[in-house]
Amino acid sequence: MRVAPQKTGERMARKQIRSNQIPAQSPLPARRGAGAPPPLVELREATVVYPDGHVGVERISVQIARGEFVFVVGATGSGKSTFMKLLLRDVEPASGQVLVAGRDINALTPNRIPYLRRRIGTVFQDFKLLPNRTVFDNVAYALQVTGASREEIKRQVPEILRLVGLAAKIRNFPDELSGGEQQRVSVARAFVNHPPLLLADEPTGNLDPETSIGIMQLLYRINLTGTTVIVVTHDREMVDKMRRRVVALHEGRLIRDEAAGMYTEEESTTEFGIRMRAEMGVREGHTNGKSRHVHHASLGDN
Ligand SMILES: Nc1ncnc2c1ncn2[C@@H]1O[C@H](COP(=O)(O)OP(=O)(O)OP(=O)(O)O)[C@@H](O)[C@H]1O
Ligand SMILES: [Mg+2]
Repeated sequence: MRVAPQKTGERMARKQIRSNQIPAQSPLPARRGAGAPPPLVELREATVVYPDGHVGVERISVQIARGEFVFVVGATGSGKSTFMKLLLRDVEPASGQVLVAGRDINALTPNRIPYLRRRIGTVFQDFKLLPNRTVFDNVAYALQVTGASREEIKRQVPEILRLVGLAAKIRNFPDELSGGEQQRVSVARAFVNHPPLLLADEPTGNLDPETSIGIMQLLYRINLTGTTVIVVTHDREMVDKMRRRVVALHEGRLIRDEAAGMYTEEESTTEFGIRMRAEMGVREGHTNGKSRHVHHASLGDN
């Protein structure tokens, strides 16, 4: 269903070398030529039926390669969050398979599920920060669960907070931050382990257009490091402008899969931000959030 030109494959391979991603651990036979790694994510005819009989998704088949940036779109109730939950094994398919890095994740024993989830960064519309912890602690927590040392935590947390433009807020609590800033903390938390896969379910759903561009710019920057990024969104304008792959769901079924934008040369994240602001009619001088100057200063080129 989707177009996978040679050029894209080569670019993905280069990206992988640039980044320090885990190698594929798949015992599965390669389906696209000898030695080709399996897709990072693959659904095979996956169907989810909730306990009350509601169908979440129906016979979805899709492959997402390492390094891709994919939007998942569709009306409310079309199955977007169910799709994301399948990848985290928050829900299990009634039929079909879900493979991550070539492994059927529904064959994992329960004690292995936390390891799967540690390899997948997640960002949600409502941020899901711990309200009684500082920004530092919210991000540090993601490192602690992987067994990182105190030294690593002390080094990596400020580094990632600089990346998202929040170095100055490190000792603040979530309720002392704007919505956009809180979402930056949750992106930092999702990325601090440099996961091969990052899932964002309506990450800009509660944010104004200017702040949304900043969050997309961050996700794009993360993608340029080699992390596969899957973003659920209702922001039609953002999807149209970003020119990335789009998977569309309708009533639980996959109805469209377009590789739009896969052929364009990569932009730097600064160029990306400038283009998005121009195309979405957000003026450079326009101020919408307190954090604007802070985060612009730290979003340099890759
Ligand atoms: N826990 C649940 N129990 C029963 N039905 C559910 C549950 N979660 C989702 N559904 C149903 O499954 C279908 C897909 O829901 P899902 O949450 O995946 O949609 P969505 O595309 O994320 O929608 P939205 O844009 O509103 O977030 C809907 O019909 C929904 O009512
Ligand atoms: Mg949803």
